[in-house]
This record gives sequence, C-alpha cells and structure tokens, in this order.
Amino acid sequence: MKQLPVTTAIYECQMNELPAEEQQLLQQAIDATSRSYAKYSNFHVGAAILLANGITIMGCNQENAAFPAGICAERSAIFAAGAQYPDQPIKTLAIAARDPKGQLTQRPVSPCGTCRQVIIETETRFSTPVRILLYGQECVYVMDGIRHLMPLSFTEF
Ligand code: THU
Repeated sequence: MKQLPVTTAIYECQMNELPAEEQQLLQQAIDATSRSYAKYSNFHVGAAILLANGITIMGCNQENAAFPAGICAERSAIFAAGAQYPDQPIKTLAIAARDPKGQLTQRPVSPCGTCRQVIIETETRFSTPVRILLYGQECVYVMDGIRHLMPLSFTEF
C-alpha cells in the first residue's frame, strides 16, 4: 500500500497584513455577526462575500427551534449571492464569529462540512477557487480555495 500525499496550504497572519479590500471584507463579516439569529446556540457567525463584480453580500446564521431548519452564515451568504447575482463568481469569503459572551473568537472559526461542500459546488460552478479568510482575534487564516480544507471532495457524478 502506498501513501497518497495530500498537501494543503493554510496561511496565518494578522488582519493588518492583508490588502485593504480583504480587511474590509473581514470587517463586514464581523459586522454581520450582530445580525445573526442564534437563539439556541448563542454562537453568532457572520460571513461576507466579495463577488467578481465587486459587490459584497453578507450572511449570518439563522437558527430554528427545529434545528435542521436553520442555516449557517456561509450558506446564507452564498445562497443570497446565488439568488441575486447568479452569474457572478465568488472571489473571496470572509467568516467571523462571536462566542456566547459576545466576544469575537480568539481563534478562527472554520466552515462546517456542509458549508465546505457548498463552497466546493460554487468553485465548480464558476471554475474559480474561492479565497477564504477566517477571522480570529489572535490571527487570521487564509487559504486559496476550499480544497485546502477538504481534499478528495465530491464534485460530480
Ligand atoms: N455555524 C455557522 O454559521 N458557521 C460555521 O462555520 C459553524 C457553525 C453556526 C450554526 C449554528 O447556528 C451555530 O453556528 C452553532 O453551531
């Protein structure tokens, strides 16, 4: 049996090391946390998407007493973008979260498995990798494409 090497590249930096446009997108993700409806988890997640045409779309998690009926911040933003600008590739996705005490998380929060699958679908749909920025007070994680978070992904059948 041979081992198949899987290499991913996740960069760590401070927010002020990023280009101004990406700092703004992270700030919009932070702002979106305050619009989240997280009555059950008290974990408020915000997402901001930069489309190829320069427009920004925001999303945040929306919870429900019937748990599966809710949606994560990332998918709420991606689906809103798809509904409003169906022909626009997503260039960059920024994510931030506040813990139940209302504090922005110290470490970056990564998208859940379902959201990763939706991001993969978006990349496949537009043949463009989505740059991902994950905010934490201590540091920001940056990756050029969801493949760095999800190797061996399912994209077609
Ligand atoms: N959540 C997100 O919105 N995005 C993530 O990447 C992780 C989890 C939401 C779902 C739920 O409303 C709450 O955070 C707790 O899981």
